[in-house]
Amino acid sequence: LAALAAGVVPLAARDRSAVDRLQGLTPAPDGGPPSRTHDLTLVAAEREAAVLGPGQPLTRVWSFAPEGSPVLPVLRARVGDRINATLENRLAQHTSIHWHGIRLPNGMDGVPYLTQAPVRPGERFAYAFDLPDAGTFFLHPHCDESGGAGRGLMAVLIVEGDAPPGYADAELTVAIKDWRLAQDGGFLPFETKEGAGRAGTFGTIRGVNGVAGPLRATVPTGGLVRLRLLNLDSTRIVQIGVEGAEAALIATDGHALQPIAQDDLPDSAWRLGPAMRADLLVQAPARAGEILRIVDFASAEPWLVAELTAAGPRLNRGPFAPKPLYAATVPRADTGAAEPLTFTFGASSGASAAAEIAAGLAPGDPLAKVLLDSLCVRDTSLWAVNQVPWPSGPDAVLPPPLGTLKAGRPYVFEWVNTTPHPHPIHLHGHAFEVLSSSRQKLPRHLADTVILNPRERIEIAFVAAPGDWMLHCHILEHLEYGMMGYLRVA
Ligand code: C2O
Ligand code: CU
Repeated sequence: LAALAAGVVPLAARDRSAVDRLQGLTPAPDGGPPSRTHDLTLVAAEREAAVLGPGQPLTRVWSFAPEGSPVLPVLRARVGDRINATLENRLAQHTSIHWHGIRLPNGMDGVPYLTQAPVRPGERFAYAFDLPDAGTFFLHPHCDESGGAGRGLMAVLIVEGDAPPGYADAELTVAIKDWRLAQDGGFLPFETKEGAGRAGTFGTIRGVNGVAGPLRATVPTGGLVRLRLLNLDSTRIVQIGVEGAEAALIATDGHALQPIAQDDLPDSAWRLGPAMRADLLVQAPARAGEILRIVDFASAEPWLVAELTAAGPRLNRGPFAPKPLYAATVPRADTGAAEPLTFTFGASSGASAAAEIAAGLAPGDPLAKVLLDSLCVRDTSLWAVNQVPWPSGPDAVLPPPLGTLKAGRPYVFEWVNTTPHPHPIHLHGHAFEVLSSSRQKLPRHLADTVILNPRERIEIAFVAAPGDWMLHCHILEHLEYGMMGYLRVA
């Protein structure tokens, strides 16, 4: 396993060409199959599932998929298709669906109290929007996220349409998520004071695709395989490498980039914080029975994520020369014309600054009237954005926005981490371009979530879309304990 860690290739010298390559992708051709409407009912309910594996005690999970089917459903659509999804809440607490990474109208973004009312037990809510971008996405609730996601209430959403014909011989979804389970299959507390104030509370059982891992599957001998990797964990940052096969990064958070060979990535691997995705193209071994491995190298003891065995007649794909996916359709910000804004992600100073600001709002200001319920806030704040923590306590009200932006205008944000912990920072409703980092040699790429390392500064650029959009760390205890706010784009 250690072999992969060698051969660090700095990307700095290539930064310029990385940009050109990113922008030199071919757009998807016009035409293709006519767009469809997907009428879905997503029933959020508690049920039993064999998370720990066959013959092991069952776990009472929360899932959008009925008993007997996998805990983690995989929904498929095509770019340009319409989603008509009715959420039906059969849980004992309110919920919602946030379509992570999808650029959609603000009212469909699924944030209780900000973009919609909470969907109470027994209620329904209809989500309807078009899919503007192809790629690998997922969905999850947006209050009590550590409890909801921790019990499994998520789904993968694959939007097809970014691959030229014959691009790959097989495709595999690899969704990484730990479970906080006791040996009897019951859940342990998802939040701990110790974890919430530091790197977060980790699971006890590592898993892939909704069950204890690693994943074992077969791949066509010699064939090209598209791996759709998702980090759906609440806490863990993984560092993904492939052993026993050539591999290239072809998309980040759903959006294409010029393929980067694994050996040319920083540390020959790609880091995924909670909520981040990466698509890799790999070439399966040339002889049936040979194995390729997907490994998480983030911790001292590397963890086997998936073991894929070549099977069937050999496909002759020739030498590995990964082609790019079709270009992403995200609007690019003109950084020269962009307004710069800085956001600092740090520890909370203790006092609920947000409550004070909200209390200082003029009487009759609609912001001051929205009382948040206890599922959407915690008893205290430990973290903050620009020194303002997401409010906590029984009288928490919706705080004012962290900033006000103009719709259609380009922005460059500088994100600064003043803490000793990494934070995967997520902006709703947009895909942004990661421009630079003060500490890492990152290729320029599109993302909706980016890891901000301790004392690092990262610059991102995007064109603002209208609405109220959450901005938060995606380590779930960090956002719940304060590292969350929102931007108002008018
Ligand atoms: Cu997956 Cu507010 O985010
Ligand atoms: Cu964080």
